[in-house]
Amino acid sequence: MASGLFISFEGIDGVGKSTQLDLLVQFLNEQGRTVCRTLEPGGTDLGREIRELLLHRKGEVSPRAEALLFAADRAHHVANVVRPALERGEVVVTDRYLDSSVAYQGSGRDLGFNQVRDLSLFAVDGLLPHLTVLLDLDASKAAARRSNTGAEPDRLERAKIEFFESARQAYLKMAADEPARFLVLDAEQSVESMQAKIRERVQGLLG
Ligand code: TYD
Repeated sequence: MASGLFISFEGIDGVGKSTQLDLLVQFLNEQGRTVCRTLEPGGTDLGREIRELLLHRKGEVSPRAEALLFAADRAHHVANVVRPALERGEVVVTDRYLDSSVAYQGSGRDLGFNQVRDLSLFAVDGLLPHLTVLLDLDASKAAARRSNTGAEPDRLERAKIEFFESARQAYLKMAADEPARFLVLDAEQSVESMQAKIRERVQGLLG
Protein backbone atom coordinates (compact mmCIF):
# COMPACT_ATOMS: atom_id res chain seq x y z
CA MET A 1 0.00 0.00 0.00
CA ALA A 2 0.93 3.64 -0.35
CA SER A 3 3.15 5.21 2.31
CA GLY A 4 0.68 7.55 4.07
CA LEU A 5 -1.73 6.81 6.90
CA PHE A 6 -5.44 6.32 6.24
CA ILE A 7 -7.96 6.99 9.03
CA SER A 8 -11.77 6.90 8.78
CA PHE A 9 -14.41 8.06 11.25
CA GLU A 10 -17.68 6.18 11.51
CA GLY A 11 -20.87 6.09 13.56
CA ILE A 12 -24.57 6.75 13.24
CA ASP A 13 -25.81 10.33 12.75
CA GLY A 14 -25.55 12.43 15.91
CA VAL A 15 -22.63 10.73 17.68
CA GLY A 16 -20.22 13.66 17.39
CA LYS A 17 -17.85 12.50 14.64
CA SER A 18 -17.02 15.92 13.26
CA THR A 19 -15.93 17.31 16.66
CA GLN A 20 -13.49 14.43 17.11
CA LEU A 21 -12.32 14.72 13.54
CA ASP A 22 -11.63 18.46 13.90
CA LEU A 23 -9.61 17.88 17.08
CA LEU A 24 -7.56 15.10 15.49
CA VAL A 25 -6.77 17.23 12.44
CA GLN A 26 -5.67 20.06 14.75
CA PHE A 27 -3.36 17.64 16.61
CA LEU A 28 -1.86 16.29 13.37
CA ASN A 29 -1.26 19.82 12.07
CA GLU A 30 0.47 20.73 15.32
CA GLN A 31 2.72 17.71 14.80
CA GLY A 32 3.69 19.11 11.41
CA ARG A 33 1.90 16.40 9.42
CA THR A 34 0.33 17.10 6.07
CA VAL A 35 -3.32 16.19 6.44
CA CYS A 36 -5.87 15.51 3.75
CA ARG A 37 -9.24 16.01 5.44
CA THR A 38 -12.08 14.69 3.39
CA LEU A 39 -15.57 13.15 3.49
CA GLU A 40 -18.11 10.85 1.88
CA PRO A 41 -20.37 11.44 0.15
CA GLY A 42 -19.00 14.56 -1.57
CA GLY A 43 -15.19 14.51 -1.41
CA THR A 44 -14.78 15.43 -5.11
CA ASP A 45 -16.56 17.63 -7.68
CA LEU A 46 -18.41 14.65 -9.09
CA GLY A 47 -19.05 13.49 -5.53
CA ARG A 48 -20.68 16.81 -4.62
CA GLU A 49 -23.13 16.31 -7.47
CA ILE A 50 -23.80 12.74 -6.29
CA ARG A 51 -24.20 14.04 -2.73
CA GLU A 52 -26.88 16.48 -3.93
CA LEU A 53 -28.72 13.60 -5.60
CA LEU A 54 -28.45 11.39 -2.56
CA LEU A 55 -29.35 13.86 0.13
CA HIS A 56 -31.49 16.55 -1.49
CA ARG A 57 -33.17 15.25 -4.63
CA LYS A 58 -36.96 15.04 -4.38
CA GLY A 59 -38.57 11.64 -4.96
CA GLU A 60 -37.69 8.04 -4.23
CA VAL A 61 -34.31 6.49 -4.99
CA SER A 62 -34.49 2.69 -4.90
CA PRO A 63 -32.25 1.12 -2.23
CA ARG A 64 -29.97 -0.56 -4.80
CA ALA A 65 -29.64 2.65 -6.80
CA GLU A 66 -28.79 4.47 -3.57
CA ALA A 67 -26.09 1.88 -2.73
CA LEU A 68 -24.61 2.23 -6.22
CA LEU A 69 -24.57 6.04 -5.98
CA PHE A 70 -22.67 5.88 -2.68
CA ALA A 71 -20.30 3.35 -4.28
CA ALA A 72 -19.77 5.59 -7.33
CA ASP A 73 -18.99 8.56 -5.08
CA ARG A 74 -16.51 6.42 -3.15
CA ALA A 75 -14.81 4.96 -6.23
CA HIS A 76 -14.17 8.43 -7.62
CA HIS A 77 -13.08 9.76 -4.23
CA VAL A 78 -10.54 6.97 -3.67
CA ALA A 79 -9.09 7.22 -7.16
CA ASN A 80 -8.81 11.02 -7.19
CA VAL A 81 -8.28 12.09 -3.58
CA VAL A 82 -7.47 9.28 -1.16
CA ARG A 83 -4.91 7.21 -3.09
CA PRO A 84 -2.99 10.22 -4.47
CA ALA A 85 -2.73 11.73 -0.96
CA LEU A 86 -1.53 8.41 0.49
CA GLU A 87 1.02 8.13 -2.29
CA ARG A 88 2.31 11.58 -1.33
CA GLY A 89 2.75 10.23 2.21
CA GLU A 90 -0.05 12.32 3.76
CA VAL A 91 -2.39 11.45 6.60
CA VAL A 92 -5.86 11.04 5.09
CA VAL A 93 -8.72 11.57 7.55
CA THR A 94 -12.16 10.89 6.13
CA ASP A 95 -15.57 11.57 7.63
CA ARG A 96 -17.20 8.23 6.65
CA TYR A 97 -15.95 5.52 4.30
CA LEU A 98 -17.09 2.08 3.16
CA ASP A 99 -18.30 0.90 6.57
CA SER A 100 -21.04 3.56 6.30
CA SER A 101 -22.45 1.75 3.27
CA VAL A 102 -22.31 -1.64 4.95
CA ALA A 103 -24.08 -0.21 8.02
CA TYR A 104 -26.65 2.06 6.32
CA GLN A 105 -27.38 0.31 3.01
CA GLY A 106 -26.39 -3.25 3.94
CA SER A 107 -28.07 -3.42 7.30
CA GLY A 108 -30.30 -0.34 7.63
CA ARG A 109 -31.81 -0.80 4.17
CA ASP A 110 -31.59 -4.59 4.24
CA LEU A 111 -29.49 -5.02 1.10
CA GLY A 112 -27.26 -7.56 2.84
CA PHE A 113 -24.08 -7.01 4.80
CA ASN A 114 -21.80 -9.12 2.58
CA GLN A 115 -23.21 -7.90 -0.73
CA VAL A 116 -22.72 -4.26 0.15
CA ARG A 117 -19.28 -4.97 1.57
CA ASP A 118 -18.28 -6.68 -1.70
CA LEU A 119 -19.70 -3.80 -3.76
CA SER A 120 -17.79 -1.29 -1.63
CA LEU A 121 -14.53 -3.23 -1.87
CA PHE A 122 -14.93 -3.35 -5.64
CA ALA A 123 -15.45 0.44 -5.66
CA VAL A 124 -12.22 1.10 -3.75
CA ASP A 125 -10.21 -1.74 -5.30
CA GLY A 126 -9.68 -3.23 -1.86
CA LEU A 127 -8.32 -0.16 -0.07
CA LEU A 128 -9.10 -0.36 3.67
CA PRO A 129 -8.14 2.26 6.30
CA HIS A 130 -5.27 1.53 8.71
CA LEU A 131 -7.56 2.77 11.47
CA THR A 132 -11.32 3.21 11.72
CA VAL A 133 -12.60 5.16 14.71
CA LEU A 134 -16.15 4.06 15.53
CA LEU A 135 -18.09 6.34 17.86
CA ASP A 136 -20.73 4.12 19.39
CA LEU A 137 -23.99 5.36 20.88
CA ASP A 138 -27.43 3.94 21.49
CA ALA A 139 -29.71 5.00 18.59
CA SER A 140 -32.31 6.71 20.80
CA LYS A 141 -29.62 8.75 22.58
CA ALA A 142 -28.17 9.77 19.21
CA ALA A 143 -31.69 10.79 18.08
CA ALA A 144 -32.13 12.91 21.20
CA ARG A 145 -28.80 14.66 20.47
CA ARG A 146 -29.90 15.33 16.88
CA SER A 147 -33.31 16.76 17.74
CA ASN A 148 -32.63 18.62 21.00
CA THR A 149 -36.36 19.32 21.33
CA GLY A 150 -36.93 17.00 24.27
CA ALA A 151 -40.23 15.87 22.64
CA GLU A 152 -41.25 12.19 22.58
CA PRO A 153 -40.32 10.55 19.24
CA ASP A 154 -43.21 10.28 16.76
CA ARG A 155 -43.83 7.28 14.46
CA LEU A 156 -41.40 8.46 11.77
CA GLU A 157 -38.75 9.25 14.34
CA ARG A 158 -39.22 5.77 15.87
CA ALA A 159 -38.77 4.16 12.43
CA LYS A 160 -35.58 6.19 12.06
CA ILE A 161 -34.38 5.01 15.46
CA GLU A 162 -34.88 1.38 14.35
CA PHE A 163 -32.96 2.09 11.15
CA PHE A 164 -30.07 3.66 13.07
CA GLU A 165 -30.04 0.89 15.67
CA SER A 166 -29.71 -1.66 12.88
CA ALA A 167 -26.85 0.37 11.35
CA ARG A 168 -25.24 0.57 14.79
CA GLN A 169 -25.37 -3.21 15.23
CA ALA A 170 -23.75 -3.68 11.81
CA TYR A 171 -20.94 -1.31 12.82
CA LEU A 172 -20.37 -3.29 16.03
CA LYS A 173 -20.24 -6.53 14.05
CA MET A 174 -17.64 -5.09 11.67
CA ALA A 175 -15.58 -3.92 14.64
CA ALA A 176 -15.77 -7.39 16.19
CA ASP A 177 -14.74 -8.98 12.87
CA GLU A 178 -11.77 -6.65 12.38
CA PRO A 179 -10.51 -5.67 15.85
CA ALA A 180 -7.10 -4.59 14.55
CA ARG A 181 -8.61 -1.94 12.25
CA PHE A 182 -11.29 -0.58 14.59
CA LEU A 183 -11.05 1.62 17.65
CA VAL A 184 -14.51 1.57 19.24
CA LEU A 185 -15.28 4.42 21.64
CA ASP A 186 -18.29 4.87 23.86
CA ALA A 187 -19.64 8.23 22.64
CA GLU A 188 -21.18 8.98 26.04
CA GLN A 189 -17.77 9.80 27.50
CA SER A 190 -16.38 13.33 27.38
CA VAL A 191 -15.02 14.89 24.19
CA GLU A 192 -11.58 15.15 25.82
CA SER A 193 -11.45 11.56 26.94
CA MET A 194 -12.44 10.24 23.49
CA GLN A 195 -9.90 12.49 21.81
CA ALA A 196 -7.10 11.34 24.14
CA LYS A 197 -7.75 7.71 23.13
CA ILE A 198 -7.81 8.58 19.44
CA ARG A 199 -4.56 10.55 19.65
CA GLU A 200 -2.85 7.74 21.54
CA ARG A 201 -3.78 5.22 18.85
CA VAL A 202 -2.83 7.53 15.99
CA GLN A 203 0.48 8.39 17.64
CA GLY A 204 1.24 4.68 17.84
CA LEU A 205 0.56 4.27 14.11
CA LEU A 206 2.71 7.27 13.19
CA GLY A 207 5.61 5.76 15.18
P1 TYD B 1 -24.07 14.01 6.28
O1 TYD B 1 -24.88 15.25 6.31
O2 TYD B 1 -22.68 14.08 5.78
O3 TYD B 1 -24.13 13.33 7.71
P2 TYD B 1 -23.01 13.00 8.77
O4 TYD B 1 -22.50 14.31 9.25
O5 TYD B 1 -23.74 12.20 9.83
O6 TYD B 1 -21.97 12.16 8.07
O7 TYD B 1 -24.91 12.97 5.44
C1 TYD B 1 -24.44 11.78 5.08
C2 TYD B 1 -25.58 10.81 5.23
O8 TYD B 1 -25.41 9.76 4.28
C3 TYD B 1 -25.60 10.16 6.60
O9 TYD B 1 -26.93 10.00 7.06
C4 TYD B 1 -25.02 8.80 6.36
C5 TYD B 1 -25.42 8.51 4.94
N1 TYD B 1 -24.50 7.59 4.23
C6 TYD B 1 -24.98 6.35 3.79
O10 TYD B 1 -26.16 6.03 3.98
N2 TYD B 1 -24.13 5.52 3.13
C7 TYD B 1 -22.84 5.84 2.87
O11 TYD B 1 -22.10 5.05 2.26
C8 TYD B 1 -22.35 7.13 3.33
C9 TYD B 1 -20.93 7.52 3.06
C10 TYD B 1 -23.23 7.96 4.00
